Amino acid sequence: MEALRERIQAEGKMLGEDILKVDSFINHQVDVALMEEIGQDIAKHFAGQGITKIFTIESSGIAPAVFASKYMELPLVILKKKSSRTLSQNLWQTEVISYTKDVTYELTLSKDYINDQDHILIIDDFLANGEAATGAVRLIRKAHATVAGLAVLIEKAYQPGRGKLEAQGITVYAQTRIARCGEAGIEFAG
Ligand code: G4P
Repeated sequence: MEALRERIQAEGKMLGEDILKVDSFINHQVDVALMEEIGQDIAKHFAGQGITKIFTIESSGIAPAVFASKYMELPLVILKKKSSRTLSQNLWQTEVISYTKDVTYELTLSKDYINDQDHILIIDDFLANGEAATGAVRLIRKAHATVAGLAVLIEKAYQPGRGKLEAQGITVYAQTRIARCGEAGIEFAG
């Protein structure tokens, strides 16, 4: 997606050799107009596929997922990283390891918001190691629902996420793909 690629080129910054900082428009300050364009593009890509719900993982996937939900006219469900007093029973849960952030969390979904007829699109900001998305797939499959695909804003194509997802039969749509990044800058993949 051209607008996103241009924005990454203009404002993306490398943190060390591996982490792409995009918090001026995605992760901290949010460019809502760009998020709307992104959501609209995802809606167009996945149109006509019998999708019943959109899932995202808190927190950075929420903004684009809101707009995909608006344009697809589908409910949006936000998978939580921890349970709480209001979310403590009747749950599907699975453990996810975040390699980039070096933390482990219990990805949590209320059984009220999924059923075995659901065909679900997962949306997230980054695809890196594919752990968060694989956790979402596990939850969906525990509930005997099906996965329509995974849409991500930025795929770090030099990391194993796509391979991991495709090996589980999941179609991945990446709006931008980064071939490599480092001190020399950011190089996009086709
Ligand atoms: P995964 O996202 O593919 O599962 O890979 P990994 O476990 O390595 O990544 C864990 C977290 O790190 C994710 O955020 C992911 O978005 C973030 N991340 C991975 N690579 C980058 C990067 O290059 N830049 C930035 N800014 N983030 C990256 P999360 O834990 O789900 O948190 P949140 O940011 O959505 O709240």
